[in-house]
Formats: sequence, structure tokens, C-alpha cells
Amino acid sequence: MPQLIAGNWKMHCLAADALALARGVAAGAGGITAELLVCPTALHLAAVAQALKGSTVAVGGQDCHYARQGAHTGDIAAPMLRDAGASWVILGHSERRQNHGETDELVREKTLAAVEAGLNPIVCVGETADQRAGGQETEVVGWQLAGSLPKPFTGVVAYEPIWAIGSGKTATDEDVAVMHAFIREELIRQFGDPGQTIRILYGGSVKPANAASLLAVPNVGGALVGGASLNPQEFLAIARAAQAG
Ligand code: 13P
Repeated sequence: MPQLIAGNWKMHCLAADALALARGVAAGAGGITAELLVCPTALHLAAVAQALKGSTVAVGGQDCHYARQGAHTGDIAAPMLRDAGASWVILGHSERRQNHGETDELVREKTLAAVEAGLNPIVCVGETADQRAGGQETEVVGWQLAGSLPKPFTGVVAYEPIWAIGSGKTATDEDVAVMHAFIREELIRQFGDPGQTIRILYGGSVKPANAASLLAVPNVGGALVGGASLNPQEFLAIARAAQAG
């Protein structure tokens, strides 16, 4: 399976910048064997999807509601993302868990809604700096996996240590190897054989300079890229470092 290189644009870009960024990624995507995905703000999703039509770059949302529709002011339902041209959605990102109080149970409900709407979910897990300092990182990630993933699970998991996000601090290849091996074991324990092939992305200060070694770590199925995904050349350089699979 090819590695997945996903750009999480978070709350960046006005409409014109988002379109320019999307076009820049599509223009340089030739010859890249990794699967490419960009996740703009929901407001720009339809326009970005339109601009990327016919390219090899897929589009995803950054969150969705657990309900198919209803009285939920300000929220966005999974079928709306799908209707706007998304084929993926990021769920349970630490910025949503921390800033919006999202629990594992809520993330699981959202994941079910996403799958039902025909979206591929990317479910994020990861520990804080304090949890790692206390040696609790695998315990925390184990609980998140057990609580956030519905059964069966057909999506992708992203391991994003919170202390590595936007900080310029990347987990060492050794840290990533240990955690991804643990996540693989947990996925097999939870889901049996299908757990062998669920892609596990790494996220947290992935840059062109560290991408090749991170992407070569066993059980790393791709990258979830924040800051570097806002520059098409950097994002494409990371994608070129991906394993052919
Ligand atoms: P950075 O690549 O900016 O550290 O962000 C990672 C992230 O949160 C992607 O979802």
C-alpha cells in the first residue's frame, strides 16, 4: 500500500491562498507514488476540490459532526463534506480534543458518521509532554485507540505526539518506532488480521529534512503534515521522500 502524505491546513489560508496552494501541490504531483491529500478549512473545501478535479490530490475535512443532519448551529455533517468533494476527514486531532473538549467516545461517534457518509477517517491519537515525561505515553495512546476507533475500523490512524506539533521538536525515529509498533499491536489486538494493514501516520513537525528517515521507520504508513503543508514545495518534498510501498 502506498504511504499517505496528508496536509492539515488547519485554520490557515484565505480563499485565494488555498486555491494557489492546492494548484501548486497538483502541479508538482507528477511522479509521486505516495497518496496525496490536502485538508483545507471546510469553508474552502468545495473550491479546493473543484480546483483539484482530475488531479491525483484528494481532499479532506478537518472535523465533522456525529449526526447526519439536524439542529447543530455552526457544525458540519459528514455527508456535507462528502457532497463538497471530500473523500477523507481528520478526526480527534489534539487541537480539537484540547480546545473543544472532544472525548474518545465523541471521536468514535464522529468516525462512525464519517464512514457512513463514505469518507475515509484519519483518527488522531497522541500524548502530552507531561504524559511522556511520566512514562505514560503508551498507556494513554492505548486508551485513545480503544475508545476512539469503532469496530470494524477501515480508516487510518495518525500518531501525533502533542509536544511535537508546531514545536519544531520531532519525535526521534526510535520513539516513533516504539510507538508505531505498539499501535500496530493494539490494532491487531482490537481488530485481528485487518489490523495488520491499517496505515499509521506520524505527525508532528514533519519537514523535508526529517521526512525520509521518519517515513522509513517500520509501521509508518505516511505523514500528517501541518506547517510544512502550507508550502507546496515543502509538502511535495516530503511526499517525494515517501516509500513506494
Ligand atoms: P506540524 O507539522 O505543524 O507540527 O503540525 C502537525 C499536525 O498537527 C498535523 O495534523
